[in-house]
Amino acid sequence: MCGIIGYCGPRNATQILVEGLKRLEYRGYDSAGIAVGLNGSLKVIKTKGKIKELRQKIPGDMISSYGIGHTRWATHGVVNDINAHPHTDCSGNLAIVHNGIIENYESLKNMLESEGHIFHTDTDSEIIAHLIEKYFNDDLEKAVKEALPLLKGTYGIVCIHAKDPGRIVGARNGSPLVVGIGKDEMFLASDVTAIIAHTKKAVYLEDGEVVFIKPEDFITTDINDKKITKEIEQITWELQEIEKDGFPCFMEKEIMEQPESIKRAMSGRIDKELATAHLGGLNLSTKELINLERVKIIAAGTSFYAGMVGAYLLEAIPRIPAIPELASEVRYKNPIIEKNTLYFAVSQSGETIDTLFAMKELQRKGATVLGICNVVGSSIARDSDGGVYIHSGPEIAVASTKAFTSQITVFYLFSLLLARMRDLSFSAGEKLITDLISIPLKVENVLSRWQQLKEMAIKYAHYKDFLFLGRGVNYPVALEGALKLKEISYIHAEGYSSAEIKHGPIALINEETPSVFLVPDDELREKIISNIKEVKARKGKVIAISVEGDEEIKDIVDDVFEIPATHELFYPFIMVVPLQLFAYYCALELGRNVDQPRNLAKSVTVE
Ligand code: G6P
Repeated sequence: MCGIIGYCGPRNATQILVEGLKRLEYRGYDSAGIAVGLNGSLKVIKTKGKIKELRQKIPGDMISSYGIGHTRWATHGVVNDINAHPHTDCSGNLAIVHNGIIENYESLKNMLESEGHIFHTDTDSEIIAHLIEKYFNDDLEKAVKEALPLLKGTYGIVCIHAKDPGRIVGARNGSPLVVGIGKDEMFLASDVTAIIAHTKKAVYLEDGEVVFIKPEDFITTDINDKKITKEIEQITWELQEIEKDGFPCFMEKEIMEQPESIKRAMSGRIDKELATAHLGGLNLSTKELINLERVKIIAAGTSFYAGMVGAYLLEAIPRIPAIPELASEVRYKNPIIEKNTLYFAVSQSGETIDTLFAMKELQRKGATVLGICNVVGSSIARDSDGGVYIHSGPEIAVASTKAFTSQITVFYLFSLLLARMRDLSFSAGEKLITDLISIPLKVENVLSRWQQLKEMAIKYAHYKDFLFLGRGVNYPVALEGALKLKEISYIHAEGYSSAEIKHGPIALINEETPSVFLVPDDELREKIISNIKEVKARKGKVIAISVEGDEEIKDIVDDVFEIPATHELFYPFIMVVPLQLFAYYCALELGRNVDQPRNLAKSVTVE
């Protein structure tokens, strides 16, 4: 949730840290700070607010060769200057930044206070600084290793000490840390976006590892000081992918990128000759795939709704029972692992703690869990038993858009693969492929008519409550449409199966509560039209996302956005894009910060 950056080398650390924090701001953004080594001591500058406020507080001549920085999303302690990271020890010589939660901080704080340590903040993180101080004897790395076993909870910690200058120590347990290797300079960050302007060479730390870096090299060990040799990996993202590239914000850029990102998710994975799909990283034999009896999908947020679409497809195409479950619920419900069951953990970031820990719980009980992730080298991607990258490129806006359409692309491919091993004919496989390949153009068609959605948003943005209604494979799309609207515009919105409105939501309908209906040209269309009439009869305003050529609907509803026709199972792609744009333009109309909506974070690494 929070972002971390550390630097040591010949360039000005202050500048590198602030630029890195700017790139990490999407992860957490209520306060920020840096600590740099300056003339034998540390200078700490921190503030509540955004990086631009931090920048204003930093003197232009503050030049240093090492330092650490942090952008915070508050968990313990209110948002103010004092609770912002870095935190220092009593001497002011040691500074730490921390992502995660220290669960036993109260007992550690009592112990440290009784030993004379004075605390200044309400955070759990400050105890880390004092605990390391307790063990510090001119060797920061040694002190960190002595302190770590006492911490319970999750952490990515990075620290520096004025008496051990020019070096940085990092430790990971549940919160990601990556070492960036430059020429005579080193970086340490929570996320590669902070460092790709400087280097493409990265080393990803695993849980239980500690790294000690200086400008010319780094050493990784476990907490018992046993040396660990790490592989240097190449970062595949390009700098331009994490820039707005002429768009006013990342969310618009990412919505508009979807024709390309969907193509990337299917690229090299379609086999036209055999009318099937190839997914290289599944690590499952043909026999295992054929013997599958069940699929379960765990995820959170938008990824969960993509998982719901995926489950629908798996039941509809290869006819395999599939169940989507919220990762946060799976983790604590003592899940039952059945034989011949395959699990998918779906996560854009690959770091969502609920999904990661649910996956570990399932694996501990012997389940096979595959990841569907975007971020290469992320925790879920590394710790899963195999998986498929969606290759969306970096998603920076907090509200997820392009990841959703890429995640469902992978589910179409996996469904096709399984179906062709079972009872889907060659020609039916070919037809699915043709429909899938035609999707990017259809998405482009929808995107090209953004103006119409903008006008609709201007007309409706001032309503306080919305319903989003869809059925079948489009039911999760209705949930996602409602989620997008509430996330970025703060308008209250509920998603439902339109069949369910009679069981409650219809009580909300009046002139002040518009409904957005998803109306494909499938066998449920007539039933949806009946639901629309029920809403209209109660004076509810209705926006319909309907298929080109559906003239009847225009006479019934208040506003229509037409989408191109497709195979009935492929509507989620084309239905979700107008909902993303509608939410986006509503948020703009209301003057919201679209990329960084209040209280939210891109990757939720705390429970
Ligand atoms: C946060 C983000 C959402 C995202 C969810 C799951 O809530 O704000 O946009 O859908 O986490 O994230 P993941 O990275 O696991 O897909």
